[in-house]
Amino acid sequence: MKILGIETSCDETAAAVVEDGVSILSNQIASQVEIHARYGGIVPEVASRQHTLSIIPIVEQAMAEAKANWGDLDGIAVTIGPGLAGSLLVGANVAKAIALARGLPIAGVNHLEGHIYANWLMKDSLDFPLVCLIVSGGHSDLVLMKGHRDYVLLGRTRDDAAGEAFDKAARILSLGYPGGPAIERAARSGRASVQLPRAWLKGTDDFSFSGVKTALLRLVEAGKISSEADAAASFQEAVVDVLVTKTVVVAEEHRVKQVLLAGGVASNKLLRQSLVKHSPIPVQIPEPILCTDNAAMIAACGYYQFQAGKIDGLDLDVIPSLKLS
Ligand code: KG4
Ligand code: ZN
Repeated sequence: MKILGIETSCDETAAAVVEDGVSILSNQIASQVEIHARYGGIVPEVASRQHTLSIIPIVEQAMAEAKANWGDLDGIAVTIGPGLAGSLLVGANVAKAIALARGLPIAGVNHLEGHIYANWLMKDSLDFPLVCLIVSGGHSDLVLMKGHRDYVLLGRTRDDAAGEAFDKAARILSLGYPGGPAIERAARSGRASVQLPRAWLKGTDDFSFSGVKTALLRLVEAGKISSEADAAASFQEAVVDVLVTKTVVVAEEHRVKQVLLAGGVASNKLLRQSLVKHSPIPVQIPEPILCTDNAAMIAACGYYQFQAGKIDGLDLDVIPSLKLS
């Protein structure tokens, strides 16, 4: 089953063709990072306009890379939320137009489910029950899965998401945008020698990252940071320490067979290495290009929706605040 995936929820315009939920035939991504970098963050209206310019060429490139004709496709999967309304609309409308013109079934995909399903692009059979830590620009969620598309939200962030915390810390340290890769780069030449707090929120599976960010800000304001590299390394270590420790505790409590990592922050090398090192349960992590926003993960997720008989109509609409359910 060949599925065209389309993703436009934030600042990447992406299209991919995936076969049977596991084989990536193409994976095209047009990043808007350089356009938004000059504003220090994503400007929603600029993002929508850029998606409008990029979406058709990106879909055509994905089809060409996959050496696929329209007649080779069995379905279309498109992100319908969560995300920026104007951005989501571009992908959803293009997907619906193709579905109508070619008589193809369409599946509206939750972007967070897509991040989780990037793991099935690495290996088509993963053991349930499993715990997945989704760490992106908007989410830090610990999710228990007992089967395909069966989610129980165990923990979430009470304030800043992990990616958001990286972005804000990079701004505090004047390291540029996007913050996660900037912190990781700076940390390479630093030592985690700056004392920063960890919010353990004992007795809950929730996270909080606003305290560590504020602690960093106070140190910078007081002129106590002599090396940005050391501060970046310390911040990265503080966030990774909490994410890994809490994920391992939850995985053991629920006696899962597998631990998954997903979302843009999952491309962070220290997080990847630290989770593998500390988890006694097997860990699965998508390769970095499949952790940040892409359409292959949306096509993979759409495959499992089609398998479950979930086919949407052409009245499919975007849901900017869509939750995992
Ligand atoms: O999943 P994603 O690409 O988009 C959302 O769905 O939000 O995640 C983007 C987030 C940003 O906050 C970015 O700074 C962070 O992921 N990120 C990283 C790294 N690469 C991206 N954070 C830490 N280390 C990285 N290497
Ligand atoms: Zn994402």
